Amino acid sequence: MLRTYLAFVLVVCACVYTAEADHLGHTCTTNDNCTDVSNAACLGTEGNKTCQCTSLFKANGTTACVAVLGSQCTAPANCNSVSNSNCTNGVCKCNSLYKPVENVCNTVLNSQCTATENCSSVANSECTNLLCKCKSTYKPMVDHCMPVLGNTCSGDSCSVVTNAICNTTCKCSANYTQKVDVCIIGLGNPCADNAACTANVAHSVCENKICACMAGYKMSGTECVVVSRAGGVSVGIVAMATCFIALLMG
Ligand SMILES: *[C@@H]1O[C@H](CO)[C@@H](O)[C@H](O)[C@H]1NC(C)=O
Ligand SMILES: *[C@@H]1O[C@H](CO)[C@@H](O)[C@H](O)[C@H]1NC(C)=O
Ligand SMILES: *[C@@H]1O[C@H](CO)[C@@H](O)[C@H](O)[C@H]1NC(C)=O
Ligand SMILES: *[C@@H]1O[C@H](CO)[C@@H](O)[C@H](O)[C@H]1NC(C)=O
Ligand SMILES: *[C@@H]1O[C@H](CO)[C@@H](O)[C@H](O)[C@H]1NC(C)=O
Ligand SMILES: *[C@@H]1O[C@H](CO)[C@@H](O)[C@H](O)[C@H]1NC(C)=O
Ligand SMILES: *[C@@H]1O[C@H](CO)[C@@H](O)[C@H](O)[C@H]1NC(C)=O
Repeated sequence: MLRTYLAFVLVVCACVYTAEADHLGHTCTTNDNCTDVSNAACLGTEGNKTCQCTSLFKANGTTACVAVLGSQCTAPANCNSVSNSNCTNGVCKCNSLYKPVENVCNTVLNSQCTATENCSSVANSECTNLLCKCKSTYKPMVDHCMPVLGNTCSGDSCSVVTNAICNTTCKCSANYTQKVDVCIIGLGNPCADNAACTANVAHSVCENKICACMAGYKMSGTECVVVSRAGGVSVGIVAMATCFIALLMG
């Protein structure tokens, strides 16, 4: 009976010992005692060493050491423990729209700035009242700035863009053309004078009160592009060749 009991105790102890042998916090003498947990080592003072996460990793429970900003990595997944970070040049770093603050990645949007350069990783943002904010014709979407035009709207939320209206999404009013984030008097729109057209579209004119491309240019999307002069060039080459032959023949 006693023998059975002792055997039972031994088995239980062995099991507990094996199960916990490599866990974080468990007593160890060498790093080999800690190999069950990646990025752990036998650390502490002599005679009182335990399995602990190596520097640049932090414990998650007692069975894992997870990456922090600055941890070495070989794959993007190695940095999953830090939201909005990625493995860049072998180190976990915040993605470009985020910046490190006390080992977390915070959005650059709404972070402190002294100059627009501080916000430059977020396209179409600027430093306004010492905070990185989207430019007026853009709106913040978590971490980046989206043009107001094209976004769902309500009330007068489109009015930050001159000549835009809310019709399910922000759109340019009739007689205006969207150019990226603003509404302009563009090709095909009514105009009062040439200046109204050239202000937004190079090589355009106000013709019969409608903006159009000037002579020698043609419409390409919202721009006027020069009409190909390939024909003129070949005429020139023929003329030069003719001269050259005439010279040779004296
Ligand atoms: C650590 O490992 C060594 C060699 O593998 C072993 O002799 C020792 O008992 C282990 N110590 C602990 C506390 O696990
Ligand atoms: C052993 O180290 C731990 C921390 O690593 C500490 O809390 C504990 O007081 C130490 N024990 C002794 C006996 O030094
Ligand atoms: C910590 O471990 C838990 C349970 O395994 C997991 O759900 C969680 O995502 C881990 N946290 C980090 C930061 O890796
Ligand atoms: C992380 O970086 C890899 C390339 O190193 C890239 O393919 C992946 O899209 C990035 N992930 C995120 C969420 O940015
Ligand atoms: C903004 O950028 C300048 C120049 O790089 C730097 O000196 C300054 O500390 C930055 N300010 C903030 C709040 O990050
Ligand atoms: C809203 O847009 C729809 C088509 O997208 C159009 O038929 C309608 O006339 C527009 N309403 C206004 C007030 O512009
Ligand atoms: C668009 O321009 C035409 C011609 O100038 C004008 O008759 C019409 O009222 C304008 N439409 C709007 C919505 O302003």
